[in-house]
Amino acid sequence: PKHIPHHFVDVLVVGGGIAGMRATMAIDPSLSALVVTKDQLRESNSSYAQGGIAGVLAPEDRFEDHIEDTLVAGANLCNRDIVEMVVREAPGHIRQLIEWGTSFDTEDDGELVLGREGGHGVRRIAHALGDATGKEIMRAMIRRAREELGAQIWQNTFTIDLLTHEKRCVGALVWNPHHGKTFVWAKQTILCTGGVGQVYRETTNPTVATGDGHAAAFRAGAILRDMEFMQFHPTVLYIAGSSRSLITEAIRGEGAYLVDHNGERFMPAIDERAELAPRDIVSQAIVNHMEKTRQPCVYLDLSHLDAKQVLKRFPGIAAKCMEFGIDITTDRIPVRPGAHYMIGGVEVDDNGASSLPGLWAAGEVTSSGLHGANRLASNSLLEGLVYGARAGAHASEAAIGQPDTFQAIPLENPTVDKFSQALDFEDVRNSLKSLMWRSVGVRRDGKDLAKAAETIAGWQRYVLRQQLPDPRGWELQNMLTVAGIMIEAALRRTESRGVHYRSDFPERDDETWRRHTTDVRV
Ligand code: SIN
Repeated sequence: PKHIPHHFVDVLVVGGGIAGMRATMAIDPSLSALVVTKDQLRESNSSYAQGGIAGVLAPEDRFEDHIEDTLVAGANLCNRDIVEMVVREAPGHIRQLIEWGTSFDTEDDGELVLGREGGHGVRRIAHALGDATGKEIMRAMIRRAREELGAQIWQNTFTIDLLTHEKRCVGALVWNPHHGKTFVWAKQTILCTGGVGQVYRETTNPTVATGDGHAAAFRAGAILRDMEFMQFHPTVLYIAGSSRSLITEAIRGEGAYLVDHNGERFMPAIDERAELAPRDIVSQAIVNHMEKTRQPCVYLDLSHLDAKQVLKRFPGIAAKCMEFGIDITTDRIPVRPGAHYMIGGVEVDDNGASSLPGLWAAGEVTSSGLHGANRLASNSLLEGLVYGARAGAHASEAAIGQPDTFQAIPLENPTVDKFSQALDFEDVRNSLKSLMWRSVGVRRDGKDLAKAAETIAGWQRYVLRQQLPDPRGWELQNMLTVAGIMIEAALRRTESRGVHYRSDFPERDDETWRRHTTDVRV
């Protein structure tokens, strides 16, 4: 359409969490770069990260052990070369964050205080402000990108779709409330849009996590992989009327117990690592125990720990619980699992290249091979840094090699129906979230999945074919697209592995299923 303005850049970065910011920093300063974020920069899953960032930092720790812990958690589906690369690059990236002004928590002598989380054999997690690691890291990175590097950032700008021409990605169509739609033509595009937790009723993710990047990449023809692997965090605050806040796993790392309504611990009977087993095992144990005891939640109990230490280490969680009259040093914290992290995503190689030329990706929107079928705690901020840096550098190099033939390309756009005022987006959105929670949750089975697929296909038939007018509508379309892919992938994987538990196929089947799910079409 004639009235839509055109904007030309060398490199476009979509998303402003840890991966997007790190990618931006890696772009050659001789190039023009633009970052678009759909909300304020501070609204990302990265900013809400509590536990921290994993790396071999203690003298007694070894790369081999971090590699092994990642592989064991990943349930035989990690790519070992990728795990080795990321683990070996971790300490350098963490030191760089410190150089850029991130204040990790330290002892009086300046040594980093390291935390422990499920699946880690030792303490190896750097954290900041006690339990507000993501906020501190993102503060320092955003400051550097903006003030020191002068990055051009368009906030409150929704990426409606990637632009493709002759099977290449050539930028994106974006929208913001002040300027309306704009075509951003880019030599190279880097997708760092994060996760999809909002497709579930119960989630740790902020409202921005609606899978926009996953859906846009899918529509553009990039390969998505392993979309059945949604990781559920075992402990999400469960209080009527409160937002579903994450209660960091580091709290169990410091010795908190998981107990039931009678105050009884139930994890030691299930796994020798007890409360510190990998989170797929803990989430499933909690759901089983809730069912067995017919209770809506279980509890975290910290009352046996040193109260002063608890308040110093977890100030954010203490304050949040206190708003609801819960003193975490004496009272039990009601928790249950919630959707936390999308392990599947855009398939990328070790440089962050997707299967679509011109499109790179980093962070939660990707499937890099690091996480296998179950992500190890605190490996995701790390992945964002390693892959952000790689995708940024390689996209930048590719753009340097391209001529400056900036011109708008005539687009073919399929005709779609006009928006029908009768459609209540919020109602469909809520119905989708409930359906996903009921049928595509911690435990799935073929019958429920098939029914959910049918219901969602019905919604897709009338929601996807309309030209919706605003971000809430586009988000809904993306959520429906992603949910459809997730269910199809979950139906296909007829085994249980990592975070994907099929009660009709409870065993892991390495013979048939030690492979990725890639060619899902919906
Ligand atoms: C947490 O703090 O428990 C979350 C850490 C993670 O998801 O890696």
